[in-house]
Amino acid sequence: MSNVKAAITGVGAYVPDYILTNDELATMVDTTNEWIMTRIGIKERRILKGEGKGTSDLGTGAVLDLLKKTGTSPDEIDLLICATVTPDMVFPATANIISDKAGIKNAFSFDLNAGCSGFLFGLTTGSQFIESGKYKKVIVVGADKMSSIVDYTDRTTCPIFGDGAGAVLLEASDDDNGIIDVTNFVDGSGRKHLHQKAGGSVKPSTHETIDAREHYVYQEGQSVFKFAVSNMADVSVEMMKRNNLSSDDLDWLVPHQANLRIVDATARRMNLPKEKVMINIQKYGNTTDATIPLLLNEWESKLNKGDNLIIATFGAGFTWGAMYLKWAYDPPK
Ligand code: UT7
Repeated sequence: MSNVKAAITGVGAYVPDYILTNDELATMVDTTNEWIMTRIGIKERRILKGEGKGTSDLGTGAVLDLLKKTGTSPDEIDLLICATVTPDMVFPATANIISDKAGIKNAFSFDLNAGCSGFLFGLTTGSQFIESGKYKKVIVVGADKMSSIVDYTDRTTCPIFGDGAGAVLLEASDDDNGIIDVTNFVDGSGRKHLHQKAGGSVKPSTHETIDAREHYVYQEGQSVFKFAVSNMADVSVEMMKRNNLSSDDLDWLVPHQANLRIVDATARRMNLPKEKVMINIQKYGNTTDATIPLLLNEWESKLNKGDNLIIATFGAGFTWGAMYLKWAYDPPK
């Protein structure tokens, strides 16, 4: 086995300017700020407006921010993975479009779809190319324009989601910091609870599917909630156990931001105080593949070399997983 560890060596992010507040949503569907705050914990979310704008525009914004912050030339990138459930088009891959728009010419790139666990699965995949010694610089982007598949007449789903993107650079670690352990799971039978009915090969879009609003997110909220709470907490506790980590040893939990109640339940099971949990759901909602890198970007100035982090996710598929990493750099000056 190779001794090379992959490490996150930089973070970038991009969110669109438009802020959709709970009060504005309440003019569109029968809901209230109070219900959304109590049941989900979201105050506002960002929406990408503008004709012809898609997920690649969000992803490119995050990648350009990452390249600038890390002083990396696009020519140095060997591989770019884009985790998304809202690709610009069914094909070609949004990763290819991001590479083109960001001026990345010496890399190959591809998309990865694992629902809200896509960024974690992307980190898992990208890190293998570093650990094998095959490549030196890999970018993993998580980007979603959820507003393109959200039904703004359905009050049970429209408050939840927002648009955004984040990206990280993976390189070989020069010490013991970096990705230590990861475990990922899928259960495809969970697809019945959370999916998009039309637009795929089983049910290509037609006038009828559009009329039936089947090109939007379909979610059985309570079922997804139950699976999310138990699986995200179980996998996080298991990650602590198998690495002999107590709650004192852990510096940060980086949990997928789907519902504040799911995050709280996971932190409780891990016996972690609130101060050690990264939370920004109130500002961005559930940005699907972007939640984890948006958190890392926001907390970058507070993270120190050697900090112990656990990333935990749950999403459509079902997919879930946890990663233990030791943060590899001190806050940028
Ligand atoms: O990231 C991908 C994974 N996704 C998730 O993790 C999401 C998991 N699920 C959830 O977060 C929650 O189930 C939701 C936020 C989707 C829903 O919250 P809930 O507490 O499970 O609500 P519920 O579906 O049990 O509905 C309770 C009540 C219902 O009314 P009745 O039947 O009790 O009269 C709903 O019609 O709340 C009603 N309701 C609303 N009321 C005001 C549903 N949506 C709204 C709304 N505003 N927006």
